[in-house]
Amino acid sequence: MAAQGLIGIVLAGGLGSRLSPLTRVTNKHLLPVYDRPMIYYPIETLAQAGIRDILLVTGGNNAGDFLRLLGNGRDFGLSHLDYVYQEGEGGIAAALSLARYYAQGKRMVVILGDNIIADDITPHVERFAQQERGAKILLKEVDDPQRFGVAELAEDRVVGIEEKPQRPKTRYAVTGIYMYDDQVFGIIDRLAPSQRGELEITDVNNAYIGWGQLTFDFLDGWWTDAGTFGSLLRANVLVARQRDMPLPPGVPGSGPEAGA
Ligand code: DAU
Repeated sequence: MAAQGLIGIVLAGGLGSRLSPLTRVTNKHLLPVYDRPMIYYPIETLAQAGIRDILLVTGGNNAGDFLRLLGNGRDFGLSHLDYVYQEGEGGIAAALSLARYYAQGKRMVVILGDNIIADDITPHVERFAQQERGAKILLKEVDDPQRFGVAELAEDRVVGIEEKPQRPKTRYAVTGIYMYDDQVFGIIDRLAPSQRGELEITDVNNAYIGWGQLTFDFLDGWWTDAGTFGSLLRANVLVARQRDMPLPPGVPGSGPEAGA
């Protein structure tokens, strides 16, 4: 199986302040997306790709509720589900650094706890498993690239990524699904905090680009984050449609364009 030997890391730390007051008394990743808590979706994405060992990095409010909700991960078909706590909101790369002890030199598929996708990522994971070393990212063309890390492509290579640029060079968003070898922890050790005071995953990916070790694929199906009010609403609609639940007439996004 392609995912053999690969571990999964779900990053569900941070304070979710963009969703306040929804996140004032609970954790963003426990909020509902249609008929399930948000955290179910990234775990299912990894499990569908054959990953059986997952570390969940959480933080902020109500971290203990993840244990009650997910237990040992058996409902998802996992062999092991482990947990670690991130203090504060030091950034995505800071959250990932907490997986160093768990990873023990293994390669990993990392997914952000607020990312929801239609696709089965198995083919991408298989290609990464065949890669000699380095990293792989997954891109998606979007209408609002300034909200994301944005990849610049040249001759079929990613030549640079800008984090939330005011004037994006392309419409290719870097989705929150990243595949790394264990060099990633050395890279994070050398990172300096960005202007917003976080260790940025974009800086990690740019380091791999500098070494000529970053590959990419495009996602075919829909992808969304769920970390803002707009994207949370969109995530609910997209999931409902995927489950073939017709939305009541008059609900925004109930038209045929919503699944595009
Ligand atoms: O969704 C994809 C985008 O995610 C990428 O295109 C960007 O390059 C990447 O920086 C990130 O952007 P956001 O600004 O949307 O990330 P956000 O701060 O919302 O964090 C996303 C998830 O990462 C969050 O749901 C949990 C995890 N996280 C985040 C932070 C800041 C942590 O585990 N710990 C953290 O300290």
